[in-house]
Amino acid sequence: MSNPRDILITSALPYANGPIHLGHLVEYIQTDIWARFQKMRGHNCWYVCADDAHGTPIMLRARQEGVAPETLIERVGAEHRADFAAFRIGFDNYHSTHSPENRHYATLIYERNRDKGHIARRTITQAYDPVEQMFLPDRFIKGECPKCGAADQYGDNCEVCGASYSPNELRNPRSAVSGAVPEQRESDHYFFRLGDFEDMLKAWTRGGSLQKEVANKLDEWFAAGLQEWDISRDAPYFGFEIPDHPGKFFYVWLDAPIGYMASFQNLCDRTEGLDFDRFWSQDATAELYHFIGKDIIYFHALFWPAMLHGADFRTPSAIFAHGFLTVDGQKMSKSRGTFIKARTYLDHLNPEYLRYYFAAKLGPGVDDIDLNLEDFAARVNADLVGKVVNIASRCAGFITKSFGGRLAPQLADPPLFTTFVEAGESIAAAYEGRDFNQAVREIMALADRANQYIDEQAPWVMAKQPGREGELQAVCSMGLNLFRILMGYLRPILPGTAADAEEFLQIAPLAWAEIADPLLDHEIARFKRLMTRVESSQVTAMLEASKTDLGAAPTEPAAPNPHLARDPIGATLDFETFAKVDLRVARIAEANLVEGADKLLRLSLDLGGETRSVFAGIRSAYDPKDLEGRLTVMVANLAPRKMRFGVSEGMVLAAGPGGKDLFILSPDAGAEPGMKVK
Ligand code: 2FM
Ligand code: ZN
Repeated sequence: MSNPRDILITSALPYANGPIHLGHLVEYIQTDIWARFQKMRGHNCWYVCADDAHGTPIMLRARQEGVAPETLIERVGAEHRADFAAFRIGFDNYHSTHSPENRHYATLIYERNRDKGHIARRTITQAYDPVEQMFLPDRFIKGECPKCGAADQYGDNCEVCGASYSPNELRNPRSAVSGAVPEQRESDHYFFRLGDFEDMLKAWTRGGSLQKEVANKLDEWFAAGLQEWDISRDAPYFGFEIPDHPGKFFYVWLDAPIGYMASFQNLCDRTEGLDFDRFWSQDATAELYHFIGKDIIYFHALFWPAMLHGADFRTPSAIFAHGFLTVDGQKMSKSRGTFIKARTYLDHLNPEYLRYYFAAKLGPGVDDIDLNLEDFAARVNADLVGKVVNIASRCAGFITKSFGGRLAPQLADPPLFTTFVEAGESIAAAYEGRDFNQAVREIMALADRANQYIDEQAPWVMAKQPGREGELQAVCSMGLNLFRILMGYLRPILPGTAADAEEFLQIAPLAWAEIADPLLDHEIARFKRLMTRVESSQVTAMLEASKTDLGAAPTEPAAPNPHLARDPIGATLDFETFAKVDLRVARIAEANLVEGADKLLRLSLDLGGETRSVFAGIRSAYDPKDLEGRLTVMVANLAPRKMRFGVSEGMVLAAGPGGKDLFILSPDAGAEPGMKVK
């Protein structure tokens, strides 16, 4: 083999305010397969990632849960790690952008760019929420679409007619945080002068290592002109304060990609002989690849290389963009149950199935990929259970029963073995080119060939004919050797099944170069089933569970949290929708403080026979003891919502601007728990 390459690979950093879902997993599985392949080839390959922990949505989400942002990101980080581990995403390091290493590199990159004149200061006018005393990102302003008049649209585009606009064009704008009418206020912001890097970026783009679709996109952007990029945000903000500008913070998208470096630095600090500069210095010979979704190309192919270059670091060797996931041909949808969280999938199905299915669909381009659930079950059952695993189960029993688990000392069909070994070159080329569906096609063609060999030899006939023991052992050993090669080729895709197969064959983890060495005169373990069939009942159960999943809200970059909208006056509701709200009189049986949440009370509400546990953000206004025994009004048919401290099974109604001025609704004397409010 040629010299080992130094390779650093990353996947995009998931936001630390929502769960990992199958849409995310396309990327992590794609990257993980590529990283595992490179490692199997003997390269010096590292795969790092982190949680993307900063920004307004995370700050507000934490506030709404009544916890510190640090507490929220730690909890979500732990959930992310557990989900990734279960899907066998083999990160060498998983860090957080809210880390000392990231603060260090964000500051360094900013200062070096600033000192070279690449940072400009300008005063901008922006929407401001006078109640929450914060500037509002576009996605946190709602109002009526200026084009079609649809109510309740975000400040940047209309989900009804698809129009894009600026938030000051919205009619009747409201803050999605407090419901207040936004004001326009001025503030100083810092801008990264992307235009300074045009020549460098053009040269980088035309270096030949970008996907054709990505290079075309960049050409469009060059033609449109490179704009300065606003890299600062005003307090309150969860992020890193800009060193020379108190009260100003780095925008989350500035320090997010720097998180790749920070995670790698953290790994270097813990790994003997791993040298940061060898991967990141301007003259680094190491390769650096970022796997990303096609929606964030602008950040990775323009801002990121420019920032790096301006700070005297190397630029990426390539950006590998992929498409989006659809389920049964449509955008993932909560009501159809196709917004599937990683955890929900794991509750019902084996992660190896999904890894295989995505691999079978993934190519090197940016096309969207579809998870067709019927095809998913059929394909996994036919290919993995019916073809690959079947080879081992057809041969292993004879070896165990009649030959004490010992394989024959010679191959029964050396030319066939050679055919399998030689196919490795083109399979490796497909992996290298991220053409995983091509690799899968070639591997499955070999699996067909192996099954055909067993059919032709018919070991079950030999087993019944005295005197054919030698042949029987040779044929079954040959079958198992073909199985071993196939498992070697599938190993980047199916690390769990490959590990089980290695245990069965009693061999060390397979490296690519060793695949060519046959396993002869070697004792294997008793065969255990390596994979069971996908049952359609499991898929149905997963879809059902996804429909009722708590907190399965998509975690779009800056999507405001719907629970934050405190009664935005002006949003209209049709009568039918309103009539669905089930308001009931409830007696506050118990009220308690919630440890760790300084805004919440836990209420136990008696609905006249039924008791509900509800978290209410009214601690600032009430002493719990004063509430016990009082009657109030609650929304009784709100879907239960999982919070940090437990599940909230409804909502009590309160009015007022906040703080001490919050008033829970009380019905007049005569009302009784459980009565419907009309
Ligand atoms: O789009 C997202 O989900 C971002 N959190 C991705 C960040 S990738 C990198 F720049 F950190
Ligand atoms: Zn519209």
